Amino acid sequence: MCGIVAYIGPKEAYPIIIKGLQRLEYRGYDSAGVAILNGTFNLYKRKGKVSDLVDFINAKKTNGTSGIGHTRWATHGKPDDTNAHPHTSGDDNLVLVHNGIIENYAVLKRALENEGHVFKSETDTEVLVHLIQEIQTRENLPLEDAVRISLTKVIGAYAIVVMDKRDPEKLVGARKQSPLVIGIGEDEFFMASDATPIVEHTKQVVYLNDGEIAVVNRNGEMEIKTIESNKIQRPYVHQLELQIEQLEKGGYDYFMMKEIHEQPKTIGDAMRGRINADEGWIRLGGVDEYSAKMSKASRFIIAGCGTSWHAGLIGEYLLEDLARMPVEVEYASELRYRNPIINEDDVVVALSQSGETADTLAAIELAQKRNALVYGIVNVVGSSIARITDAGSYIHAGPEIGVASTKAFTGQVTLLTMMALSLAHKRGTISESYYHRLLVELENIPGKLAKVLEKAKQIEYIAREIKDANNALYLGRGYNFPVALEGALKLKEISYIHAEGYPAAEMKHGPIALIDENMPVIVICTNKSAYDKIASNVQEVKARKGMVIAIVAEGDEEISKMADYSIEIPDTEEPLTPLLSVVPLQLLSYYIAVMRGCNVDQPRNLAKSVTVE
Ligand code: M6R
Repeated sequence: MCGIVAYIGPKEAYPIIIKGLQRLEYRGYDSAGVAILNGTFNLYKRKGKVSDLVDFINAKKTNGTSGIGHTRWATHGKPDDTNAHPHTSGDDNLVLVHNGIIENYAVLKRALENEGHVFKSETDTEVLVHLIQEIQTRENLPLEDAVRISLTKVIGAYAIVVMDKRDPEKLVGARKQSPLVIGIGEDEFFMASDATPIVEHTKQVVYLNDGEIAVVNRNGEMEIKTIESNKIQRPYVHQLELQIEQLEKGGYDYFMMKEIHEQPKTIGDAMRGRINADEGWIRLGGVDEYSAKMSKASRFIIAGCGTSWHAGLIGEYLLEDLARMPVEVEYASELRYRNPIINEDDVVVALSQSGETADTLAAIELAQKRNALVYGIVNVVGSSIARITDAGSYIHAGPEIGVASTKAFTGQVTLLTMMALSLAHKRGTISESYYHRLLVELENIPGKLAKVLEKAKQIEYIAREIKDANNALYLGRGYNFPVALEGALKLKEISYIHAEGYPAAEMKHGPIALIDENMPVIVICTNKSAYDKIASNVQEVKARKGMVIAIVAEGDEEISKMADYSIEIPDTEEPLTPLLSVVPLQLLSYYIAVMRGCNVDQPRNLAKSVTVE
């Protein structure tokens, strides 16, 4: 999604803004632009990467100590130089960058055209900056008031930053349903879509809330008001824990590979201080606090999108199997637009890496209106979902920069496992000995995952064998069915190979028709409970000349003999299998994507956090 960076202070703004835009590249975008104020705006925009913008600007004038920058992920209007942000008002006095969608832009545009406004681009954003100009001129208002009144006329989602060349000492930012963070430095301020462009300059940030407008100026003053013009007395200043090294590739070619390799650590971090197998306890913030309500909940509803939804499916298996809780797993985008039955004795678990996914946020609001307890499992600290949920836990995976989610997925599954185990223990739905075995084994997972990573070379070899396939099928049963879905999504999104995930037994009801010698079939065969059945599924694929790549438990003989390739992973308790079995699939898609020359970290058309519907 679009990324915003803005700066005002004593330093040169251009290098700060360009570096900031590079930090935001991971969000996904198709064009970029900057406007630096120095009497007038030096404004440059380019379709393509930030590096294309930098090449284009080259030696052109960029000096000035305030400015705004933007990476655009096209919604209204194609990705090109004209539609790229920043956008200017008709009189060229204002520049504006925007993340979100102005839903009533067509009506506003018609009204403005009737007033004589002429538009250069096809964007909803340009309409907003013209609207601000119109109101400011008509009512002779300072910028912040014109912004505030304009936003009362807007339907939609936005994070914006606006500058006025006649009032060069200030930046005005506002948010509704799209994130905006303000960094507070020494007589300087930063505004950005997330903390990544800010952290190397200051650790002090304020997360703007929905319906708030901030004015920051060169004297080090900040004022935040609501859209109704009520002053926020003491905005809460957060201390960022983010470290700069977490935003670097650390010797890896791509962030995705770094993040895959971080998983033994990130799973350990997700458990740190929350589980002790020797003493037999799990302490998960929120779950303990609301344990009475959770233990007696009539059902759990898990909501998320993409990979988070897949983690939610594993959560369903865990909560049903261990805590004997009824569970429904919902795509947040569907849940929000149905008329779902959600009651006050339901618990809604919202899963999100970014904490900013628009559909998940909307599903949470719906659940809260129906008085359900909403529990968030989120990675990004201070994100919108983390702030609006009633209770929750961070997964502590650190910044996930690769668009393809890897360590956030295993972090989410780790938390769901702890939640299910904690509830199972409280509800007495599993024996003490099984509870202890699972705790001990959960603590062993980081070590076992490190062993899975040692298979990277073998997986790279297999990737070479199947990299030219046009399609792939992923099969799994039980706990490994959501892993099959996740494996297929990883391959699709970064290598652009069409892939489907299926419950292995469903293969006979359709997908089997696709199998021939050109179809790689990746089968996750680590389930002890359904081993014979999976073995039969593998036979069925082989009988139709499909190429089988099997993920098997260490020491497996039967399926390994049938498969063309088998990747052994350490044995574990069945409910914990997904934490290990997903990793070979992450590696497989990574290597295939690299061999096909794809940009692994920034796949085409994709955004890291989907802040519009
Ligand atoms: O930030 P979220 O977890 O809410 O994001 C949800 C999906 O957009 C995300 O998982 C997406 O599917 C990833 N590209 C998957 O790798």
